Order: sequence, then C-alpha cells, then structure tokens
Amino acid sequence: MSINFTDIPSPAYVLEEQALIDNLRLMQRVQDEAGVDILLALKGFAMFGTFDIVKKYLSGATASSLNEARLCVEEMGSKAHLCCPAYLESEWEQMCTYASHITFNSLNQWKRFKDRLPKDVKAALRINPEYSEVEIDLYNPCVAGSRLGIRAKDLGNQLPDGITGLHFHALCENDSYVLERTLQAIEENYADLLHQAQWFNLGGGHLMTRKGYDVEHLIELLKAFKQKYKLQLILEPGSAVAWQTGFLLATVVDVFDSGGIYAVILDASVANHMPDCIEMPYTPTVRGAKMAKDEDTKYRLGGMTCLAGDYVGDYAFDTAPKIGDQLIFEDMMHYTMVKNNTFNGINLPSIGIWRKEGKFELLREFGYEDYKGRLS
Ligand SMILES: Cc1ncc(COP(=O)(O)O)c(C=O)c1O
Repeated sequence: MSINFTDIPSPAYVLEEQALIDNLRLMQRVQDEAGVDILLALKGFAMFGTFDIVKKYLSGATASSLNEARLCVEEMGSKAHLCCPAYLESEWEQMCTYASHITFNSLNQWKRFKDRLPKDVKAALRINPEYSEVEIDLYNPCVAGSRLGIRAKDLGNQLPDGITGLHFHALCENDSYVLERTLQAIEENYADLLHQAQWFNLGGGHLMTRKGYDVEHLIELLKAFKQKYKLQLILEPGSAVAWQTGFLLATVVDVFDSGGIYAVILDASVANHMPDCIEMPYTPTVRGAKMAKDEDTKYRLGGMTCLAGDYVGDYAFDTAPKIGDQLIFEDMMHYTMVKNNTFNGINLPSIGIWRKEGKFELLREFGYEDYKGRLS
C-alpha cells in the first residue's frame, strides 16, 4: 500500500505497522520452533506506542538502565531483564522492583549486591567470550581491555552460589553462522559453567529479520544448543525487531550550488536525528536516490545545525530535489529515537505510525519544552 505523505508532519519518524508485525511474526516463529525466549532490547528501539503490538509476539524486554526498566514495566507490562555495566547504590532498590532477571558485569558488582537481591529475581554473570567477529572496535565488546563482561580465567569453573544464569553479548548485525562460531568459542572455555547454569542469555546482534538471514539454521542451532546443555535460552535483539520498519520523513528547506556540489538543507538533521550515520558510520538509503558517482550531479543531504559534518553523503537523483520536496530516509526506526538530541536547539522529529489499514496516526510532537526540559 503506498503512503500518502501529505498527511504526515515534517520531519517525522514513521513506523510502518505491517512491517513491524512481519518482523515480530518471524521472531515468534523462532521462539516457537526453537523453544527460546526473545526479548526486545529497549536500547535499540523504545517506541512505546508500539508495545501493545510487540508484547503480543515477544517475551518481554531487556533494559540497560533504571529508566528503561521502568518503561518496560509501565509500557510493556512485564518486569525487565536487566544488563548494565554497573548498578548504582542509589538506584539498586528501585531497580530490583522492576526486574525479573539481573545480569552482573563483574564479580565486584555481584559481591556488592548479592545479599540484597530479592528472592524472586534471577541473577546471571556476563561473560566476555574473547571472541567476536564484529570488525568495528566501537561495537566490539571483546576488544583488548574491554569493560564488558568477565573473562573465563577470572571466573573459574564453578558458578558462584546464587548465580543461575550466564549472559554474553558479542554480536552486532550478525548472522546465525557468526553466532555458531561464537558459541563454539564459548563452549571451549565455559562448558562446565553452561552445564551448571539454568539459563543463558545470548545478547543482541542477531539480525534474523534481514533479507537472506538463514532462519532455519538459527532454529536448528538454538535447538541443538538447548538440548546439549538443558538450558533456557534467551535472545535480546534490538535492531532486528525494528529492522526496515519505517523511515524518517524530511523536507528540503534550501538547495544551492556550493562549488559544484549542490548543498541540500533539510528540516531533519543527521547529527540530531540520525546520529548513527555519523557515529557508526553508515550512509542511509534515500528513496528515489542513489549514491552519486563521479559523473553524476551531486546533492549533499544535510541538516540545519552548525556542524560542518552534519550531512550524510552525496546522492544522485533522477529528478533534481527542490525546496519543499519531501525526502524519505529508509530504515530509521532503530537507534534513532533512542539516541536523538536537540543540539543547536533543533526540534525533535514527530513520531507516528502508518497503520496497516492505510492511515497515518500521529503519536507525538515535540517543542520548546522538550528542549528546555533537558537544561537548567
Ligand atoms: C547487552 C546487549 N543486549 C542487546 C543489545 C541489542 O543489540 P542489537 O540492537 O544489535 O540487536 C545490545 C546492544 O548494544 C547490548 O549491549
């Protein structure tokens, strides 16, 4: 069904409900056929206006802070699985009221809080498998000197009394074959502990909703692993849930020739509203455009901030973009709304849903109070 953009304010993040449901159905199938639990990692996607849909398919959510844990309870209606690099004394009691599972990132942290862990909260240790195929250091939790997880040699071959689970996160937008090799590396060092544990959280980075992902292989891999160690298996992807489920709509505010390249100024900003394009970095797909080659007329798409690097790249268009045109940045649901900012006082994009019945529903608009509310 084609989308009528005239109904949508600009700029806006627009989630396509049907695409989200399609992803969730695939994940439900993995849960059912492999006998595992899949949680939404709120750090990647926390558009709570969709949680009534998400909770029909997934087993809950995983949180990496007190605020995310509270959002999970308030909006998902279930207690959170928590995995934070450290817990604060000042937050611990409240944290426990929102949690069903808590993963500790170090033995220090476990020792500090173990006597204050409520009986109904399950505890795990995060391991550092010292094996990751993630090539960019920024996203690799197994780099030398990593602060994420406990190394095998520091853990020994006996789970501490009170610990019933293990947790690792060493994938990023990976496929099931990377997972298979990572699990093999983990088995080499942690087989004894896996036999003692009752549950094992395989973290995020499982991009099972990407086109071409071998879902059958994932299901068989998880089934075999579960059978071998008699464990409850949990996966907590963020990106995979929201993968290709919506776009950022922006409008061209100005276009001018800047020494042979056309500078296009948009009402959405890269630095503010698509920060991963700069941080990761990557170049997003723009509907109806392609990356410019040497011979093409180049349009450099950028935002309204003072940052010289607030642009995504040079694109070529069949029809030259002009003031007032709308542009669609594809796949802008994960790691956007949860990371955006109001640098330069630039307003945040509205948030809405393109309903499966074919109409737009505006969920939220932002304004001066949202900018001012973060300052004093
Ligand atoms: C512990 C943990 N779990 C889950 C995730 C979600 O990962 P992704 O969104 O790549 O699936 C992350 C991401 O950094 C993480 O650190």
